[in-house]
Amino acid sequence: MTTKYRVEYALKSHRRDGFIEWIKGLLAVPFVLHSEPAAYIQGVESWTEATKITRQQYAAIMSDVEQLVEDQLENERKGTPHLAKIRHLVPSIGTFFTKLPLEEAFYVQDAKRSISCRRLVSPSFNDIRLILNTAQTMALASGIGPLKLVTLDGDVTLYEDGESLARDNPVIPVLIEILKRDIAIGIVTAAGYADTSGTRYKERLEGLLVAVHDSTELTPAQKRNMLVMGGESNFLFRFSVDSGTLVYVDREEWVLPEMETWAEDDIQKLLDLAEEVITSCQHVMNLNGEIIRKDRAVGIIPLPGKSMIREDLEEVVLGTQRRLEFSECGRKINFCAFNGGSDVWVDIGDKRLGVKALQRYLGKISGRQTLHVGDQFASIGANDYKARLAACTVWVADPDETVDALRELCGYIDKYAAKRLKQEAKK
Ligand code: IMP
Ligand code: MG
Repeated sequence: MTTKYRVEYALKSHRRDGFIEWIKGLLAVPFVLHSEPAAYIQGVESWTEATKITRQQYAAIMSDVEQLVEDQLENERKGTPHLAKIRHLVPSIGTFFTKLPLEEAFYVQDAKRSISCRRLVSPSFNDIRLILNTAQTMALASGIGPLKLVTLDGDVTLYEDGESLARDNPVIPVLIEILKRDIAIGIVTAAGYADTSGTRYKERLEGLLVAVHDSTELTPAQKRNMLVMGGESNFLFRFSVDSGTLVYVDREEWVLPEMETWAEDDIQKLLDLAEEVITSCQHVMNLNGEIIRKDRAVGIIPLPGKSMIREDLEEVVLGTQRRLEFSECGRKINFCAFNGGSDVWVDIGDKRLGVKALQRYLGKISGRQTLHVGDQFASIGANDYKARLAACTVWVADPDETVDALRELCGYIDKYAAKRLKQEAKK
């Protein structure tokens, strides 16, 4: 008999994150056993006691998961990834580039979110997502990489969907702080504008570009560390001190060997096929959308004043993805089909290639020296997901969380640097 759980899983597996769901399940056990739902009736004493016990038990679980991540790193290093315990427990687990101080990160988020004080609401997906973000930030700030590149998605990560980076956006001063620490910034966005003058990117990122240009604290080299990779992995721009804005970087200067083998004919065949499937969906499902074809992308956007519902957008993504995966050109060319919230796009290339191209262009930067911040990590139909293959990641829900995460990162970088200085002084 098919259980409700299996039906749910089959229907929603493309929106789940296996690792987060698994940790949520582990934390649910102490929550249930020590939740003390009667605390509200019995009074503060039993509440305080229950909080103490659950905090200890959540922390112990996070410490155990931390050990499992270390076991995976160790097995990968020894060339025996199949022996990593976590692979057996969470088959969909991805790559880890660094250790994750999960117990310490749990205490930080517990203090902010009162996770263990809750008697009636168990640790949630968002609680765990934020613990993982803090742990990743701490690991990168500790200097193990050291961190050399922070890549950021655009829509929903730096600014609200479809908007631009205005001059008063609170993320701008934090991005300047990162550049000041000799860490490069790469905005890796799906938004693709083929025009080599970069006019549209300059318009959308104006607030940041003006701030970099006007900064008296950044050196010219630090200003040149500001880059934009558009169309996932198709168009590279770099800040130029001479022109005071972005300039186009020729493809030959940064293209990855694995992208050089793509024939233009296959690229256009893939986009033709994607357009055919999206058009069929539009007719069959009667979608209120208009199809847009670009040099390196095809998409469907809502008609003026209309919208398309999330379920229909996901159907278009999953259907197109399936058709392309079974095509000859889809096996030769990397592509990314995703739900942008109000639209659907199929882009040539993906953010794994975008981040990797930046790492190589800036000089052999590795995955453990890179952090990608994005909002779309829910497996299929999410365009930041592929970046996980190239870099450490932080998963944000909105632009405010990006500001928090980057402030946290700068704070930990300074804290660990001060600690190192103190230790060296003692020697
Ligand atoms: P990101 O979040 O910065 O990666 O940008 C994704 C959003 O850019 C999508 O939701 C689209 O609305 C928009 N967009 C504009 N042009 C394109 C394109 O050519 N490909 C993909 N997305 C595009
Ligand atoms: Mg986004």
